[in-house]
Amino acid sequence: MTNGPYRVLIVDDEPAVCALIQDELRREGLHCTVATAPEYAIRLLDGKTFDLVITDICMPRIGGMDILVYARRKSPNCRVVLITGQGTRDLVAQALFLGAFDYLEKPFEAGELLAVVLRALHDEATLPALAGRAAAAMEFQGQAARVSLDSVLALVRAVEAKDANTRRHSEQVAHYATSIARAMGLLTRPIESIRIAALLHDVGKIGIPDHILTKAGPLTVEEFQHIYRHPALGAEILGTIGLFKAESLLVRHHHERWDGGGYPDGLAGEESPLGARIIQVADCIDAMLMERTYKKGYSVEKMLSELARCAGAQFDPKLAAAATAWGQSHPEALFLPGKTAPAYKEVA
Ligand SMILES: [Fe+2]
Ligand SMILES: [Fe+2]
Repeated sequence: MTNGPYRVLIVDDEPAVCALIQDELRREGLHCTVATAPEYAIRLLDGKTFDLVITDICMPRIGGMDILVYARRKSPNCRVVLITGQGTRDLVAQALFLGAFDYLEKPFEAGELLAVVLRALHDEATLPALAGRAAAAMEFQGQAARVSLDSVLALVRAVEAKDANTRRHSEQVAHYATSIARAMGLLTRPIESIRIAALLHDVGKIGIPDHILTKAGPLTVEEFQHIYRHPALGAEILGTIGLFKAESLLVRHHHERWDGGGYPDGLAGEESPLGARIIQVADCIDAMLMERTYKKGYSVEKMLSELARCAGAQFDPKLAAAATAWGQSHPEALFLPGKTAPAYKEVA
């Protein structure tokens, strides 16, 4: 991001739409360049750096999604806002996955345009709200059941893609959580619910600014406050999607502790739902085994002894015992296929 005046590229094959956007943004002191042909936009992106690209999705030959991918590849700091119409609403989830910052739906008011542009230029995290809008757009299309999980998983992948340390984290946590749930003798339906919640448990991290999420050194108190928001934020995102009401509760409480010292609600013991307690143990197992750029992963033996040591304080003692028994009897099953301890070596 430059220090202003910010440079904005407006791409739309309708000159009238370009002119309208340009007029509004110039009034705000932004430096605008217009491309009414997508090919020209690509040439501009080759030669110049833009802080923001506003592009129509539906254009002949080269579409807005191509412009999005190209702009992000050329300059990862460039924000892209897509303009959608009736026929392109279902592309919103895919656009999010590809790194779009937000979208505007035609016809839009000048006020909406300015609000989105200012958020984009000032780096405010809007994706939780966006996820809700994406879900609404897809429900409108009558495709909610099929695409909701995919679209939220796209958000999870977007979070994990930002940080090599957490890549495949959700998948691995879902593996531990379902294995522990099975070891506890839970039935198929709750296990499936736990699996979905585990896959999505960190989706709220989409609301954490990138520089905090990927910071290599220790975090400040203020930065921790952002991190602490992610379970509630994740629950909020899932709560907007009718299908995931039950899972949203598990996501909200995945950082509670057995002794009540966790967050966001400080629930103690069985006040936190069983599924959330299982995901909490699974999450910690992965955190311990995971090799990060700044730490080695624990050995399986050390992880199991930590589980035992923290039982009754951090972890539900029954779950810690079940997880330990499972880990001891199935050490070969700890890691997903294709992985060996330490868990994240090949993707670090
Ligand atoms: Fe988390
Ligand atoms: Fe996590």
